[in-house]
Amino acid sequence: MSTEIVSSEKEIQNTDPRIKLIAAKMKKENYKADALIEILHTAQNAYGYLPMNILKFITKELKLPPSRVYSTVSFYHFFSLKSKGEHTCLVCTGTACYVKGALGLLDEIEHKFSLKPGQVSADNKLGVQVARCIGACGLAPAVVLDDEVHGKLTNEMITDSINAKIK
Ligand code: FES
Repeated sequence: MSTEIVSSEKEIQNTDPRIKLIAAKMKKENYKADALIEILHTAQNAYGYLPMNILKFITKELKLPPSRVYSTVSFYHFFSLKSKGEHTCLVCTGTACYVKGALGLLDEIEHKFSLKPGQVSADNKLGVQVARCIGACGLAPAVVLDDEVHGKLTNEMITDSINAKIK
């Protein structure tokens, strides 16, 4: 599974307000490579971890070799490439999924598991995130549970799928 790699600042800013923080930080730092750690901090604060598409975005905007970015992330223990929570539920809220009921899935998750996007359950078993597009639009509404793409989900199905993961 891979999330869509959004390639332009404008496009990415339209997809997730958290990106605006990162884009603003990069702009403030004049896209200097020396500011990489601070920019990564901004990204991690916004997401709770460093999603791969965000790392690619930062890499591209700072015109850095990917190896530099990944070695920096690996070197500092406070950076994480993984979402918090033993299991992760990434709900796609891209256009196709939105039209097909992604917000209903998020409402269902909030109702059944008391979790909003960005939150992790008290027992750390489940973390919920949202994504713009996971590249499975034909399966809308789609969700990634851990690394598995689940498509054409109903509210009942998302609850069952999550329960099957966390129990
Ligand atoms: S919009 Fe959800 S997978 Fe593309």
